[in-house]
Amino acid sequence: MHRRVSSLITDGVMVFAMLLGTCAAASAAMSSAAAPAGLAAVRANCSGCHREVSPGHFDRISEERKTPEGWAMTIFRMRHLHGVKLTGKEQATIIQYLSDVQGLAPSETAPARFALERRPNVPDLKLPYHLHEMCGRCHSLARVALQRRTAAEWLKLINFHVGQFPTLEYQEGSRDIHWWKIATTELPGELAKLFPFESAAWRNWSGHPHPSLAGEWIVHGYTPGRGDYYGTARIRRTARHRYRARYLLHYASGAALDGSSDAIVYTGFEWRGTAKLGGKRVHEVYFASTDGMRITGRWFLTDHSEIGGHWVASRATGAPQIIAAIPSALKTGTTERVVVVGIGLRGSVELGPGTKCKVLERTPYGLILSASVQSNAAPGYRTVRIGQVHGRNLLAVYRRVDRLKVEPSLAIARLGGGTLAPVDAQFHVIGYTDVVGAGGKVIPVRLGAVPVTWSLEPFNAEAARRGDVRFAGTLSQEGRFLPAQGGPDPKRRFSADNTGDLFVVASHRDGKTPITGKAHLIVTVQRWINPPIY
Ligand code: HEC
Ligand code: HEC
Repeated sequence: MHRRVSSLITDGVMVFAMLLGTCAAASAAMSSAAAPAGLAAVRANCSGCHREVSPGHFDRISEERKTPEGWAMTIFRMRHLHGVKLTGKEQATIIQYLSDVQGLAPSETAPARFALERRPNVPDLKLPYHLHEMCGRCHSLARVALQRRTAAEWLKLINFHVGQFPTLEYQEGSRDIHWWKIATTELPGELAKLFPFESAAWRNWSGHPHPSLAGEWIVHGYTPGRGDYYGTARIRRTARHRYRARYLLHYASGAALDGSSDAIVYTGFEWRGTAKLGGKRVHEVYFASTDGMRITGRWFLTDHSEIGGHWVASRATGAPQIIAAIPSALKTGTTERVVVVGIGLRGSVELGPGTKCKVLERTPYGLILSASVQSNAAPGYRTVRIGQVHGRNLLAVYRRVDRLKVEPSLAIARLGGGTLAPVDAQFHVIGYTDVVGAGGKVIPVRLGAVPVTWSLEPFNAEAARRGDVRFAGTLSQEGRFLPAQGGPDPKRRFSADNTGDLFVVASHRDGKTPITGKAHLIVTVQRWINPPIY
């Protein structure tokens, strides 16, 4: 017997019309042997409530497109709210299938990828039509922008929200606007215009086979707090949607970051890997370019998604190119080892006016140089030329560091407590030197990471009075803030929680006067619900 919900939601009230019956005639007409495993799994597990209106078209399910994380969140809800029972394998098959047939095209996910990559402390999307006030106060607007629906489906989603969270308008403090009126009249049409179910991007992407990602790759990445890393990756295809990767990577300091990954590729480009990197368990959220020549994204620690690194892999067989110079700035009057990461780097090497260099070593990922900068060399960007290829603004020459920028400029850390790990905050610093350009205009030249010492200061007089620096947590010399434990602290006034309002201060000493850079850090309470898309 199958339960079926015919009209799921009407006017903000969920109406469950439980119908008794067997599978729809349409699905019986499709030979189950011919249907792919994913379609068969949807038919077997979902069609009891979501009627198969025509072969392969399920009520509600087939009128929206989402990322793999989006499908995972919906299916999680089917299980915990609507009692759907699925084995891990069935769930994986369904997420794979729905992401492939109803996913988002690469250009459609691009603006909101930061949410899939779980980049911490990124400002949310800016969207029109009151969307911030209407939808952006409970969760990110990225969650909205990572879906595509018909206007009718957007309206059903809004009705679901009110049905499921009847206190919604109060909860998100939206009494400043006519929430219900706007949500049910203007918004579905506007959302369908911004995020339409049918799009040329999706037709183009889903209409042709996607490139295999197997092969040899050159990797360059950056881990805030640790710096640049680089090396090679070898990717093998183990099944239609599956890959195994082997990484030979290290930091500029020499510390190894080797590893291996088992990945599933959804929608032909959404790489989701479970990996071991430098001995740590990490998740990979990467995206292959449409031509299959680059894989970019972010990896993060499985148990601390706020800690991770940026990743760019370029095909080793691609056109010759210079990817990065490490370090990216050289001081006048010094000689340093410089690693130039790139593809097909052959021919003479030049680092521009006032510099001299020689090749010390050729590696699979590029060249290792010894570079000297004359003491009177003019500060500014240099173009790196190797044979026929060149890289602009990859390298700078400087006399002194004039300014520091601490990133992110505003961060949120969360206390640990109970079974919940604290949410750390990782800072890193970028140095700049000022170059006077034409007409006396000061142009800041980016130097990349510079050595600093880290410290904490109260953000204001109130934070100083409360002793936030002492209670809220500690800052490591790698720029990682480790929050204190949550819960009442008897050592604090009123046994307050160990929250805090702080400045994170980086200071760089070059000669007598230290220069500093600051960022704002708010240390707040735990967040108990952490879905895949915040
Ligand atoms: C027991 C009945 C039941 C089963 C079985 C069921 N669902 Fe649902 N589904 C619902 C109800 C009720 C809603 C509307 C409320 C909601 O969105 O949670 C819904 C809504 C949906 C939506 C629309 C959600 C949105 O984002 O607006 C999707 C997509 C969906 N289900 C997918 C599935 C998939 C995939 C399966 C099979 C794995 C499935 N459902 C199985 C009851 C069910
Ligand atoms: C009161 C807080 C609140 C407001 C306001 C809110 N949402 Fe949500 N939204 C949620 C919660 C909670 C979930 C997770 C539901 C679940 O899966 O259990 C959610 C889930 C979603 C999802 C994912 C649903 C799925 O299954 O794919 C989308 C898309 C979404 N919201 C869009 C919107 C839009 C559009 C608006 C504005 C019209 C909005 N939200 C306003 C709380 C809110």
